[in-house]
Amino acid sequence: MCGIVGVITAEGGVGEVLSKALKRLEYRGYDSVGVATVNENRIYIKKDKGKIDEVNERLDLTDVPGLIGIGHTRWATHGIPSKINSHPHCDCENRIAVVHNGIIENYSGLKERLTRNGHKFVSETDTEVVPHLIEEKLNNGLNTFTAILETVKELKGSYAIAVLIADYPDRIYVARNESPLVIGVKDKSYVFCASDIPAFLPITNQVIFLYDGEVAELSLNGVAIRNLNGEIINREILEMDLTPEMAKKGGFPHFMLKEIFEQPKALKNTLRIDEGRLIEVCKILNECDRIIFTSAGTSFYAGLCGKYFLANLSRTRSEAVISSEFDEVMKNIIDERTTVVAISQSGETSDTISAAKYAKRLGAKIISISNTVGSSLTRLADATIYTQAGPEIGVAATKTFLVQLGALSLISCKLAEFKAVINRDEYKKLLNDLNSLPEIIQLILDKTEREVKASTEAYHNSISFLYLGRGINSAVAMEGALKLKEIAYIHAEGYAAGESKHGPIALINQGFPVVFVAPIDSTHNKIIGNIMEMKARGARIISVIEEEDKEIQLISDTVFRIPKATDNFFKQIVYIVPLQLFAYYMAVRKGLDPDKPRNLAKAVTVA
Ligand code: F6R
Repeated sequence: MCGIVGVITAEGGVGEVLSKALKRLEYRGYDSVGVATVNENRIYIKKDKGKIDEVNERLDLTDVPGLIGIGHTRWATHGIPSKINSHPHCDCENRIAVVHNGIIENYSGLKERLTRNGHKFVSETDTEVVPHLIEEKLNNGLNTFTAILETVKELKGSYAIAVLIADYPDRIYVARNESPLVIGVKDKSYVFCASDIPAFLPITNQVIFLYDGEVAELSLNGVAIRNLNGEIINREILEMDLTPEMAKKGGFPHFMLKEIFEQPKALKNTLRIDEGRLIEVCKILNECDRIIFTSAGTSFYAGLCGKYFLANLSRTRSEAVISSEFDEVMKNIIDERTTVVAISQSGETSDTISAAKYAKRLGAKIISISNTVGSSLTRLADATIYTQAGPEIGVAATKTFLVQLGALSLISCKLAEFKAVINRDEYKKLLNDLNSLPEIIQLILDKTEREVKASTEAYHNSISFLYLGRGINSAVAMEGALKLKEIAYIHAEGYAAGESKHGPIALINQGFPVVFVAPIDSTHNKIIGNIMEMKARGARIISVIEEEDKEIQLISDTVFRIPKATDNFFKQIVYIVPLQLFAYYMAVRKGLDPDKPRNLAKAVTVA
C-alpha cells in the first residue's frame, strides 16, 4: 500500500502542495518518497529513501519548478527501500514519469519483452514497466490517451497510477484497478488525484471518484474519464463532508476498524504471491529434517495455524515455539538440517530476530514471513515471503494476522504439491478455496458487524472470558482472546477446548462468558460436548458458527454467524473476523481508544 498524489495548479507552489499532500498520505507507507514536475517540457525528479520529513530536509521537495507534478510515498513490495526503487519511475528518455500504488502481477513478463526490445530498466520495481510501456506505445505513433489506455490493458493485478509526460505540461493521466484513486477539483485553480481524500482535503472537498477499469485525463479545463473501451463516462462531482482526521481513517472512527475492513483486499493481494517465491521456500522446507515456526504474540498464533496447515495438507511435521523461549527450548535441537520459519509483521520484533539469529548461528536455514520489505528479519533470512497487508497503524494486529494465515496456507499447498501429496487438480481446488475467502470475509463484515456490536450490551461488564476451540480453531480462539485482552483490557484466556476440563473449567460460575470457535468441521461433535460442559456450570455461551448450524445456535446465548462454506478447506481462517470486531466494539463501549492500547508498542524492539 503506497500513497500517490498529483496536482495541477494555476496558483504556483506545486512542490509545497505535493509535500503537504504526501505528508497526509504517509500513513500509507514511508519507506521512500519522491516527486516529479514538468517545466518547459522537461521532467524534474527528486526522490530518496526515508520518511518525507527526512527526505525533505535533504532534498527540499518544495523546491521544484512548474505548475504540475506527481508524488509518491512508498510501502515497498518489489525491491528494497532505496533511492533507485523510489517512485516516480521513468522511461528510457526521462520524458514520462509514473507513480503507482498496487502490484503489477505480470511485470516480469512485460519487463522481459521490453528489455528484449531495447528498453533499459534501472530499478527492481514492478512499476517501472509502466513508463516503458507508455513509451513503446507513443513510439508506435499512438496518441497519449490511447497509449495510456493500451498500456493499462496490458497490466494484470492492482494499480492506481498517475502519469506525467514532458511534452504535455498541462495534464496528468490516471488509471485504476483495485487500488484507490480519487480526483479533487477546485474551480479552475486546482485539480488533484490521490490515493485518499485527505491528501487534498485542506484545499478542496469537491471529489470525483474514479472506478476500476477507468482512465482519466486531468487538466485545469476539466476531467475526462473513459472506460477501457474508450467510451466517455460522465461522473458527477460530490461534496465530501469529512474532517481531515476522519478522511485519513477512510471515514472509520478508528484505524483498527478500518484495517479489519481492509482484510478482503489485504488477503487478495497476499494470495498473489509469486509461485516462484513459493517454490523457492518449499525447496528449503522439503530438504530439511525439522521445521520450527517461531514468532511472538499474534504472529505466534499464526505459527500455530501454520503447524496445522503443514500437517494436514502436506503431511509435514513441524513445531511452533514462542520466540522469547526459543534458545532455551531449542538449544540442543537446532542444526544445519533445521529450517526456522520466523513470522513477524514488522520484521523488527527483537525476540523473533534473536531466535532467528540464534538458529542461523547453529547452521539452520531461515525463512521469514513479513509484512515489511527490507526489515531486519528479512535481511537475515535465506528466503522471504512478503504478506501484502499494507501498513497497519492500529497497534493490535488484525489484517496482518489474516494475511499471515493466507501466506502459510499457500506455502502448505505448494509444499503438498511439491511432495506429491496432492496432484495439480487438488492444488488448484485448494487455491480456489483460498481465493474465495476474501469474498466470504466481505460477507461477514457486511452481515455480522451489527450483531457483534449489539452483543457487547450483554457482555461489557464481564471481567473475564474464556475462548475455546479445537484443532486449528484453538489457535484462532487464542488470537481472539489476545485481541480482547489487549484493547478492551478484559482478562481473556484462549485454550484448547478439550484441555479446558483440566483446569479452566474451575473458573466457570453463573454468567461467565465462554466464546467457542465452532465451524462445522471434524471438531464439531466434540465442541458441542465442550459447550454442554460449560453450559451445565452456568456459563453464557458465545459461539462463532456456520450460519446454518442450528444445533449450536440452540445451545448458545449469542451467535456470530459465518457464511456456509462446506467444502472449503481453509474456512476456519475467517472465524477470527467476528472476534476482532467483538474486541473492537467492547473497547469502544468501554470508552477506550482501540488504536493505542496502553503499555503496548506496534513493534517490540526490546528483548
Ligand atoms: C497483537 C500484537 C502483538 C504482535 C507481536 C509480534 O495484536 O500486535 O502481539 O503480534 O508483538 O509482532 P510482529 O508480528 O511485528 O513480530
